[in-house]
Amino acid sequence: MKIDILTVLPELLESPFAHSILKRAKEKNLLEVNVHNLRQWAVNEYGQVDDYQYGGGAGMVMMCEPLANAIEALSKEKKFDEIIYMTPDGEKLDQKMANQLSMKENLLIICGHYKGIDDRIRENFITKEISIGDYVLSGGELPAAIVVDAIGRLIPGVLNNETSALFDSFQDNLLAPPVYTRPADFRNLKVPEILLSGDPKKVDEWRNEQSLQRTKERRPDLLDEQ
Ligand code: ADE
Repeated sequence: MKIDILTVLPELLESPFAHSILKRAKEKNLLEVNVHNLRQWAVNEYGQVDDYQYGGGAGMVMMCEPLANAIEALSKEKKFDEIIYMTPDGEKLDQKMANQLSMKENLLIICGHYKGIDDRIRENFITKEISIGDYVLSGGELPAAIVVDAIGRLIPGVLNNETSALFDSFQDNLLAPPVYTRPADFRNLKVPEILLSGDPKKVDEWRNEQSLQRTKERRPDLLDEQ
């Protein structure tokens, strides 16, 4: 999978993809992330990509021309399955959306700033708008990194144990069960006996029960979605 990201702050996106699972995904050539500085397509030599909003009001708006030129230039190199705009009024990211996006070949993600991007770009170029939650961040870069992480780890072959993503929280609209590691007795706090039983069937049953119980207690709304 190839993900291109368009931003005015490319520095913000250097670190998130340089470590751990996403680093491994890149090394295995399963994921390629290319970050582009929108100022390459600025309207003048001062690097301008934003302007005052029509109708007045505080806050700048990202201009049509740099965005349209950037999208068109990048689209010449590859056909994007989705051109995504990160915005708090988009569709809320969940595991189902991450699963769907992980099956795509080429994605372009646009990070907004200031008051956002000119609506004509949203109407005419953007194919999907994603929010990472009901709160406003200062730009779309951290949300974009979250989307890339959520998608990247689902690409087959990225995780060491291929099945492990299947048991993540939310994969079946259930939260994951509790997990433990050594020692079995830590300051008299004991690991549940059944996990030490060596009986995989019983362990599986216990984990399923725990998942269900956790979901009932913490996120009953997920059970209504089934
Ligand atoms: N940009 C600013 N806030 C955001 C959010 N919550 N989700 C996606 N993009 C954003």
